[in-house]
Amino acid sequence: MEKLKVAVISCGMIANKAHIPSYKHYSDLCEVVAVCDLNKDAAEQTAKRWDIPHWYTDTEEMLAKERPDLVSVCVPNGLHKQMTMLAFSYGCHVACEKPIALNYNDAREMFDEADRLGKTLLACQVLRYNPEYMFAREMYDTGVLGDVYYSEFSLIRRRGVPKWGAFHKKSASGGGALCDLGVHMIDAGIWVMGSPKVKSVSGMTSSYLARNEKDIVMSLAESGAPAGVFTRQVYKPEEFEVEEFASGCLRFENGGSMNFKTSWAVNLPPEYSMRLAGTKAGILLPEMKLLGTMGRYQADIEPRTFPAEAPFASEPFPGHYQLLENAMAHIQKGEDLLIKPEQTLQITAIIEAFYKSAEEGREVELSEIIK
Ligand SMILES: NC(=O)c1ccc[n+]([C@@H]2O[C@H](COP(=O)([O-])OP(=O)(O)OC[C@H]3O[C@@H](n4cnc5c(N)ncnc54)[C@H](O)[C@@H]3O)[C@@H](O)[C@H]2O)c1
Repeated sequence: MEKLKVAVISCGMIANKAHIPSYKHYSDLCEVVAVCDLNKDAAEQTAKRWDIPHWYTDTEEMLAKERPDLVSVCVPNGLHKQMTMLAFSYGCHVACEKPIALNYNDAREMFDEADRLGKTLLACQVLRYNPEYMFAREMYDTGVLGDVYYSEFSLIRRRGVPKWGAFHKKSASGGGALCDLGVHMIDAGIWVMGSPKVKSVSGMTSSYLARNEKDIVMSLAESGAPAGVFTRQVYKPEEFEVEEFASGCLRFENGGSMNFKTSWAVNLPPEYSMRLAGTKAGILLPEMKLLGTMGRYQADIEPRTFPAEAPFASEPFPGHYQLLENAMAHIQKGEDLLIKPEQTLQITAIIEAFYKSAEEGREVELSEIIK
């Protein structure tokens, strides 16, 4: 089978720590032919670091000259649609960072264009690949959980505002903690619940701390760059214009619900948990603990796990390896995608409904968004 020619649009943190190393790992399936970034140094250094033959500062020039088969779109959220559509116009398949779009209509147009051209568009909702979520979904698929009718998650950073790039700017990122962290948990949680359809969304956002605290000490790892960044910027708190804390509730058409909170900055302890309640058992993540019954007794089950077997466990972004392998196997051999277009579309509708709900102070029906 011929190797796929891959190009990466942007040379920031996620390109260097997740996408490029993943493609390099699968050098039998693909070759990274070029990278580009508006920032010349980032493009040049990335090409040198990873031994990539060509680098560019102009995306269109790269696509026209290199004619890649597959493109990773790793620019800030506000540019995802523009870069994806550009890549489609040059006949490429696209793996786009999350959230692929900030509203449903943009995402719909992206998938419609992919369909029209017979190309793949895959959103990098990588949390599903974490071993605990794979385990939870297996427990759902094999009937151990029964029908899952309730879930709740907390992904709380006490002080973890990303201090590189443009995460704190609305024009670049669309939103804050919900777009950065919440979308991963919402996607993975709904998947473990059996991918039910969302009926309505209630959302609340706040920003009291990040705008004022310029001297709070925190590590890059705390703010989501576990292996560091190459392009750290001087961060100006007064430029902070997205939510630092988001909480909300989803109602599903099957009667189930999901409650959540997520933050970059809040005066609460750090927390990473997902809990799901099914008719036969509940499950706590990331512990992978099942809460059920045995005969007359309430029983907690802690399966034996083998962390050494978790694929790419020592990498900062292990899920990207598996997701991009799935993308390539789909393109080359027609393998099913784990992350389905309709599931990604629903996530973008949830994001849009969440911010509408926060702004208007009411529960928003998904039928108001998906017309
Ligand atoms: N899936 C995950 O786990 C995960 C984790 C972190 C970030 N992300 C996503 O990855 C994306 C980028 O995040 P990051 O942390 O790499 O940010 P970053 O700021 O490190 O990188 C963004 C890069 O885009 C470049 N850029 C901006 N406009 C451009 C243009 N028009 N053409 C070419 N390059 C341009 C910037 O110069 C910068 O180098 C975001 O959408 C974010 O949500 C996903």
